[in-house]
Amino acid sequence: MFNKKLITDVDVNGKRVLVRVDFNVPIKDGKVEDDTRIVAALPTIKYLLDHGAAVILCSHLGRPKEGPDPMYSMRPTAEHLSKLLGRPVAFSEECVGPVAEAAAKALKPGDVLVLENTRFYKGETKNDPEMAKQLAALADMYVNDAFGSAHRAHASTEGVAHYLPAVAGFLMEKEIKYLGEAISNPKRPFVAILGGAKIVDKIGVIRNLLKIADSVLIGGGMANTFFKAQGYPMGESLVDGEALETAKEILQEAGPRLRLPVDVVIADKFDNNANTKIIDVGAVPDGWAILDIGPETVAAYAKVIKSAGTVVWNGPMGVFEMPNFAKGTFGIAQAVAESQAVSIVGGGDSVSALNQSGLSDKITHISTGGGASLERLEGLTLPGVAALQDK
Ligand code: 3PG
Repeated sequence: MFNKKLITDVDVNGKRVLVRVDFNVPIKDGKVEDDTRIVAALPTIKYLLDHGAAVILCSHLGRPKEGPDPMYSMRPTAEHLSKLLGRPVAFSEECVGPVAEAAAKALKPGDVLVLENTRFYKGETKNDPEMAKQLAALADMYVNDAFGSAHRAHASTEGVAHYLPAVAGFLMEKEIKYLGEAISNPKRPFVAILGGAKIVDKIGVIRNLLKIADSVLIGGGMANTFFKAQGYPMGESLVDGEALETAKEILQEAGPRLRLPVDVVIADKFDNNANTKIIDVGAVPDGWAILDIGPETVAAYAKVIKSAGTVVWNGPMGVFEMPNFAKGTFGIAQAVAESQAVSIVGGGDSVSALNQSGLSDKITHISTGGGASLERLEGLTLPGVAALQDK
């Protein structure tokens, strides 16, 4: 259940509306390389424009260290948005302060303005109330549609919501609904697939999913830490030493719901042209490293996925950027796409694997959030959502 006020619950006509979007997108040579997140925000932007609002968009892009840095400018996103909307989009080189205020003031209903990167200001990540107030001064109302950043309590995602009427956009609602339903009322069997390199980032998620899912299928580098915890030598494989004890605890608590790979692809170099072998899980020889799950594992996981009612997938099964170690990830992508289950995929790598294999349209919901979708699956409250007005 989504119990926050939506843009449809308030009157936006004639208002200046500050919308926090997640336009943290890859930029190459001054152009947007992947516009998935921008496209995902269009329904909210268009609704506001169609209902007589002037729209002021703000977002972070990347993690600029010290103040303004042209590499992280929002300008390319403004240009790209203008193409998508088929109308001019103004750009302010400041995110707060007199320049931004003048640009906001000049807006008429139906106008769109993109502000420069919120992270060019120290106050953003500190959630400084002064920055939040300065942002609030630009508008009559605040909308948060930045699901991908909702796990951050920053001035533009959380702070500002205390100084303006604050409601959710359509993307925020959709993301929270799908992920929320998956964890509170899943169609069963509920199967979670977790991969990726590091186990530390996902311990909370594994623990929470073990409580509610019928199966948790593990792949990717994080499986190695579990193997090591079981006592197997891991050769050169990536192992998260700090998480070993926790991995042991999880193995003890989990029971049969937790599934680990039964075979793996090992390589004698971290290179697509390395020598490779498929071995059953056990001791990895010195000088070799696990880089993918093996075919028997793909088949076993695919069987579980096939009979699922709900599938949630986050994180690749191997080093899928190298074609020789991509079969695990693409095999899982295929199985998720073929399954009749409600399927929810999050995290940049899994989403990119789906896109590369042309299977995205077979997925019920592709999340625009990486960290945010994991925190939601962990059952945590997202500060960017909590700060919005209740229905
Ligand atoms: C993301 O890409 O996950 C979000 O935009 C958040 O970015 P951050 O991890 O730099 O806060």
